[in-house]
Amino acid sequence: MTVGSVLVTGGTGYIGSFTALALLEADYKVVIVDNLYNSSAEVLNRIELICGKRPEYYQCDITDEKKLDEVFAAHSDIDNVIHFAALKAVGESGEKPLDYYHVNVYGTLCLLRSMKKHHVTNIVFSSSATVYGDATRFPNMIPIPEECPLGPTNPYGNTKFCVETMITDHINAERYNAQKAGKSEEEFNGALLRYFNPAGSHPSGIMGEDPQGVPYNLLPLLAQVAVGKREKLLVFGDDYNSKDGTAIRDYIHILDLARGHLIALNHLRDHHPGVRAWNLGTGKGSTVYDMVNAFSTAVGRDLKYEVAPRRQGDVLDLTANPTRANKELGWKAEFTLEDACADLWRWTENNPQGYRQDPPKEFLEK
Ligand code: NAD
Ligand code: WQD
Repeated sequence: MTVGSVLVTGGTGYIGSFTALALLEADYKVVIVDNLYNSSAEVLNRIELICGKRPEYYQCDITDEKKLDEVFAAHSDIDNVIHFAALKAVGESGEKPLDYYHVNVYGTLCLLRSMKKHHVTNIVFSSSATVYGDATRFPNMIPIPEECPLGPTNPYGNTKFCVETMITDHINAERYNAQKAGKSEEEFNGALLRYFNPAGSHPSGIMGEDPQGVPYNLLPLLAQVAVGKREKLLVFGDDYNSKDGTAIRDYIHILDLARGHLIALNHLRDHHPGVRAWNLGTGKGSTVYDMVNAFSTAVGRDLKYEVAPRRQGDVLDLTANPTRANKELGWKAEFTLEDACADLWRWTENNPQGYRQDPPKEFLEK
């Protein structure tokens, strides 16, 4: 017995795959579309190993509206979308902004049009804390509440801001049109989930982050240092105004983040809020050195690092104020930084080739 059907774009990626797992565990039917640009279909096997259910999967580019139409037509029971598919490398977005606008903005346009044609009315969108830009430019905006004025500082962030606006305009128009036609406006809803820094892996050790290219995020880079793929971590700046001079971020365990999507979707279905933004973060800031120490503890030895100049575009502090999500969604991050580091290390040790290898033997024997 399913409770609903969800199309998950980008569902073989890092956050999408964990959300697909959370949805299946909550008895949703899951249909994934992903073009595997930054992921592997092996994750479908891992999801099935963990929960005994397998999402349906279509290799599909979200900029291919016709193909999206076919997927919706083949699954007329889909009544919700969770939209992860995107390009997400901040640095690269400065080099190839048009690629980012094409996939992130035009791809979302195709998705929304296709949803409209098939009368799919709820969308949960992967936004990002990056839409806030540098919140330290305002007084009293750290930790960052949703009311903080938006001001992204790179093309990737601009695409997220643009898509937030597009979804807001679309849902508001659909509500207005429904009202005018004497129909219920309640069915049209959108959640803009602004996440902070996702971290960690599945505690089983068989599901985790496996980007196709060179990682650029702190924890995957630290993991590479731990397995000897990288000699040392470069700490980008130790002259920030923080307790140890390194920059502060809000690292949220991937299981908490995935659960946040499930809860946000249920909230749209049960409470019909229209369009609403929620921060998904822990509310606790950690410095780069906090992370080096926490991950070194998980690994059981010191990891080599060296201080380098600040990275262009980095800001001092991106810590969430998660009160709105705590109160309105009843969602709260439960896992600790130590959990995230221990789980990431288990995944890294168990799967040196990521998803390009079979799952660890003991799992296949179960
Ligand atoms: P990811 O790269 O692991 O997942 C994105 C997925 O989208 C990949 O599987 C990729 O193959 C797919 N994809 C890319 N282009 C596509 C296209 N044209 N058509 C279909 N599929 C396509 O990234 P993630 O970390 O899981 O991020 C998921 C979402 O969350 C993204 O929208 C990202 O911008 C957002 N986000 C990520 C972070 C983060 O730090 N990881 C933080 C905030 C927001
Ligand atoms: C974290 C901290 C670095 C690498 C990015 C995107 C953001 C969101 C999450 C998608 C920073 C420091 C890093 C290294 C370091 N993604 N660092 N040495 O930049 O906070 O956020 O991912 O929406 O939009 O910008 O994450 O993991 O790159 O960096 O010292 O080799 O680690 O300076 O303080 P960031 P990150």
